[in-house]
Amino acid sequence: MYNFEYKNPVKILFGKGQISKLNNEISPDWKILIIYGGGSIFKNGVYAQVKKALEGYQVTEFGGIEPNPTYETCMKALDVVKKENIDFLLAVGGGSVLDGTKFIAAAALYENGDPWQILSAEEEVRVTRALPMGTVLTLPATGSEMNGNAVISRTSTQEKLSFGSPAVMPVFSILDPETVYSLPDRQVANGVVDAFVHVMEQYLTFPVNAPLQDRMAEGILLTLIEEGPKILKNRKDYNAAANFMWSATMALNGLIGQGVPQDWATHGIGHELTAFHGIDHARTLAIVLPGVMNVRRKVKEKKILQYGERIWGICEGTPDERIDKAIARTVEFFETMGTPTRLSYYGVTDSTISKIENRFALRNTLLGEQNDIDHRVTRAILADRL
Ligand code: NZQ
Ligand code: ZN
Repeated sequence: MYNFEYKNPVKILFGKGQISKLNNEISPDWKILIIYGGGSIFKNGVYAQVKKALEGYQVTEFGGIEPNPTYETCMKALDVVKKENIDFLLAVGGGSVLDGTKFIAAAALYENGDPWQILSAEEEVRVTRALPMGTVLTLPATGSEMNGNAVISRTSTQEKLSFGSPAVMPVFSILDPETVYSLPDRQVANGVVDAFVHVMEQYLTFPVNAPLQDRMAEGILLTLIEEGPKILKNRKDYNAAANFMWSATMALNGLIGQGVPQDWATHGIGHELTAFHGIDHARTLAIVLPGVMNVRRKVKEKKILQYGERIWGICEGTPDERIDKAIARTVEFFETMGTPTRLSYYGVTDSTISKIENRFALRNTLLGEQNDIDHRVTRAILADRL
């Protein structure tokens, strides 16, 4: 196992009715900006619960953070933060609202020019200060509620870039599984697939004798495989919703990735498909992961065989046959959840592969746990998924 340092200060309030405790977590002296997305919180009663809990507080609101939150919209929110002298940001929504809020929190205290540099500067910008923020999560998927990462898109340049800093870890996150009840099928599927692939990015690499991390990762994968279809079938199954929600948080709160190699190539390539074609984040992962497993079958062999055996019970056949079966079961799971796994479904052709290949060549992008997935390997992975 590798050395590591791990600190996760995010306070979690989990369960039915926890939104009513919001006022215990926020000082009445603060000026709060509630940040939300396209309006789902008005339809499912989450907004009403938040407002009730914050009765008597000084609250301003900013809506309209879009899925795959954009720099352009976040900069409008930043104007409100400055104009209203906001002390605390409260994100109410899915991963996009949470990520947008993290960027706004960092941008509010950024003093070196255009905050886009936080995401794009060649020499990494270390974000050491940000406005404090809390979250009320309404979509289990990204783990953003318990980590310090954010992914922001820029419409004008068709880019989707990420940054990470302990400074943007939420002070608290409220996870009420009842918020899952109003999710459309597609977002349930997205959430399950995104969480599943987060685990795979930290698990499907090479062994470093870390059996506890492996078994925690496998526990999350098995739980998602069991609970995902249940919640898709019956949205009001509280226990399935709770298990889904906690699995998604555990998949990317940093814990299972400590002391082990991490991949993240599927995400790095997937972000480009969102940037060029607007495909939902999780849907890009369902396309790319099987390609990564296939093209990287030699370097990942030991872990793919372990995954096949422990998750899908695949014990028979040559290593290559077992790897083929493990990929097939993974694809089948994504498709059973209703998530397509081929580029052709979205009409994406070789010309997009060339664009991504050229962009990675220009940026000298190297992905994967061995840092050896360059633009050529990226082409092979995507060509595998046409
Ligand atoms: O905008 P509203 O009206 O709220 O509707 C949203 C949106 O249309 C809707 N929704 C959310 N909660 C709902 C609901 N509809 C009904 N009932 C509810 N309870 O769902 C739609 C999608 O929401 P979004 O927030 O975009 O989805 P998700 O949580 O999957 O977030 C995706 C974003 O997170 C990034 C992705 O790249 C993408 O931009 N990620 C962030 C990560 C992180 N911070 O660690 C890691 C991930 O790998 C990922 O990259
Ligand atoms: Zn993801």
